[in-house]
Amino acid sequence: MTTKTHTSIWACPVCQMPLLPPQEQTGQSPATNGWHCESNHSFDRAKEGYTNLLLAHQKNSSDPGDTKTMVTSRRAFLSAGHYQPLAEKLTAILSQHLNAGACVLDSGCGEGYYLQQLLEQRGDLQLFGIDISRDATKLASRQLKEGSFAVASSFNLPVLPASVDAVLRVFAPGDNEEVIRVLRPEGILVVVSPGPRHLFSLKGLLYKEAQEHTPPDQPKGFDLLDEQQVSYPLEIQDNSAVKQLLSMTPFYWKGDRAAKTKLDEAESLSTEVDFLIRVYVPNKQAPKQVPKQAPQQTPTNHNVWGQAKIKQ
Ligand SMILES: C[S@@+](CC[C@H](N)C(=O)[O-])C[C@H]1O[C@@H](n2cnc3c(N)ncnc32)[C@H](O)[C@@H]1O
Ligand SMILES: [Zn+2]
Repeated sequence: MTTKTHTSIWACPVCQMPLLPPQEQTGQSPATNGWHCESNHSFDRAKEGYTNLLLAHQKNSSDPGDTKTMVTSRRAFLSAGHYQPLAEKLTAILSQHLNAGACVLDSGCGEGYYLQQLLEQRGDLQLFGIDISRDATKLASRQLKEGSFAVASSFNLPVLPASVDAVLRVFAPGDNEEVIRVLRPEGILVVVSPGPRHLFSLKGLLYKEAQEHTPPDQPKGFDLLDEQQVSYPLEIQDNSAVKQLLSMTPFYWKGDRAAKTKLDEAESLSTEVDFLIRVYVPNKQAPKQVPKQAPQQTPTNHNVWGQAKIKQ
């Protein structure tokens, strides 16, 4: 257990008021079980520490996002260090931009690998993650006790306006207007996407005519501040890691069936890793940061936007 004090960024997904953390009973007030807002909407904290802030009507299936198999495969593959050069570069870039105590939100955080790596270098940061997959969020929360995690959609962030210093989006979908809404005035959006040659040889095994990845579009409402490429050969020497990479890879689900069977049995794989890391800032034309919905009640002095405190 640490004694670090966190600022909460969470907003009630029903009324958008600040969410307050579960509280022990005091002389004046009773104990509360979950996160709750002033309108008494409450959201239980799971035993792993995360909270479900995804409302039923925001789901397009009963169990959205990455499956348990994908999540556990990714955990095993990333823990073996195959993408560590990316994690190191990402940590260095974020460190350069973030002051002590800054709030980082990993949107589509998966099982929390990049936040974990960031924490090892920058224990002073306040780390938050959302993912639409309950299995991913559960694993992230179990692993990273110092962070605060919620099941939520990146298209409808349960996050207070102007509360975050950096939004991280690593191989995950997201909504640019939502990012602009939650970023503080000097905040940044960091996007990691596949470079042209990412896993190109692997694609060549799955498709008759493998295509290079096309460069990602510039997110609407943002200006590019910095771009870095991380590329290196990837040599995998065991079958379980080949299978883990395959089940993390979206084009595996579409590629040639015979090639997949062969790859499932492969004892080794040589391919390329190619990542693009881009740092963006909202441009001057970006819409003004306003709450999604004006609060119904005047916030009290202890929980104005973004000021609730959690002790761990
Ligand atoms: C390719 S994985 C990347 C995970 C993690 N960022 C990483 O690189 O290790 C994409 C992640 O986005 C999540 N995801 C998909 N749609 C989402 C949405 N609408 N909102 C939040 N997360 C979403 C998936 O559940 C999955 O964990
Ligand atoms: Zn509420």
